[in-house]
Amino acid sequence: MCILKNVLIIVFIYTETNGHISWTLHTKPAVFGQDIQLVCDLTSDAHCCSRYTRKWVKDWTYDVVTINKASSNIWKYEECLNSSSSTSILTIKSFDEEYVNIPYECTYGFDTFSKVLNIKYFEYHPEEKFPDNLTIYKNYVEANITMKKFYPIPKCNATDGVNDLKQNLNVTSESNGLFFTSNIHLLYDIRHSCQETIVVICMVGQTPFTVVNHTLPCLLDLEIGKAVYEYQQYAVNTKLAMKYEDMAKINYETAHEDVAGLNLFYLDFRPPSMQSILVDYQKKTQ
Ligand SMILES: *[C@@H]1O[C@H](CO)[C@@H](O)[C@H](O)[C@H]1NC(C)=O
Ligand SMILES: *[C@@H]1O[C@H](CO)[C@@H](O)[C@H](O)[C@H]1NC(C)=O
Ligand SMILES: *[C@@H]1O[C@H](CO)[C@@H](O)[C@H](O)[C@H]1NC(C)=O
Ligand SMILES: *[C@@H]1O[C@H](CO)[C@@H](O)[C@H](O)[C@H]1NC(C)=O
Ligand SMILES: *[C@@H]1O[C@H](CO)[C@@H](O)[C@H](O)[C@H]1NC(C)=O
Ligand SMILES: *[C@@H]1O[C@H](CO)[C@@H](O)[C@H](O)[C@H]1NC(C)=O
Repeated sequence: MCILKNVLIIVFIYTETNGHISWTLHTKPAVFGQDIQLVCDLTSDAHCCSRYTRKWVKDWTYDVVTINKASSNIWKYEECLNSSSSTSILTIKSFDEEYVNIPYECTYGFDTFSKVLNIKYFEYHPEEKFPDNLTIYKNYVEANITMKKFYPIPKCNATDGVNDLKQNLNVTSESNGLFFTSNIHLLYDIRHSCQETIVVICMVGQTPFTVVNHTLPCLLDLEIGKAVYEYQQYAVNTKLAMKYEDMAKINYETAHEDVAGLNLFYLDFRPPSMQSILVDYQKKTQ
């Protein structure tokens, strides 16, 4: 009986108010936790809008929200009239989940309009702190990020600045009440990478979240740096001043660079260690 009554009322409202009055969600994107506004177009009548009472009610139980400017909960609702645009603006402060997927009705005099405020226009932003750091082990970098609560389902992409890393990215989402929980996993082989910036961006509705933004250390550089350091130590200890020409005798693929006045080498591969090369060199030149 109750349900039938509601249906009858809605039908009645609809026929009565067709074209006269309606509200729309003004805040786009509407974000949970922030203030949102519903704007009701009261009338096309020139005598707006002190003639009749303005009223907002919510939920299937028709809870009164505001009557004119008077609010049933000043911490939560605020109504204001814009007489130049003939609109009643309802602000709902720190919008949370109990206020969504329920009807809101605005009334002006005998005109009434009701509709459900649908979650599909909303975003719930993840609370995690981004960007996250990558874990580096051996030849791989890994990101394993959990977003516990958000809406809608994120659309993520990953890049190293040049290549699309979509095939390295695995995003799984499951529902969590009205919202979602998601795991974002990236696994990327960096053997042939140097100084690349891995960026993973997830769009939550219209809002982008940079979940990873990490410039990779250059594995090659790290190893060469270590090798050069080791060589310098070796050179100091043995008073060995190894020249490029001498080094060139080491039968490896090499490229050279002058470091601190010494002709040293950047080896074009990942050396086991400069030390062992030097040991090899010594053996060969003895
Ligand atoms: C009232 O509506 C007019 C016309 O749409 C708009 O220019 C003005 O900014 C609005 N005033 C307020 C306080 O929202
Ligand atoms: C990432 O690493 C930086 C520098 O080591 C650190 O300051 C930051 O807190 C880390 N971020 C996270 C989310 O762990
Ligand atoms: C990612 O992290 C979650 C929770 O921290 C863990 O349960 C999951 O096994 C991890 N996934 C991978 C591929 O490491
Ligand atoms: C990733 O998504 C962002 C935001 O939508 C977009 O600007 C960027 O072009 C996308 N990158 C790739 C490689 O698809
Ligand atoms: C993505 O993750 C899901 C769940 O963890 C797993 O079943 C699936 O095999 C993964 N896919 C890829 C391409 O790694
Ligand atoms: C990544 O970080 C760099 C340096 O902090 C910044 O300049 C760049 O805008 C960031 N990129 C994205 C997509 O957030």
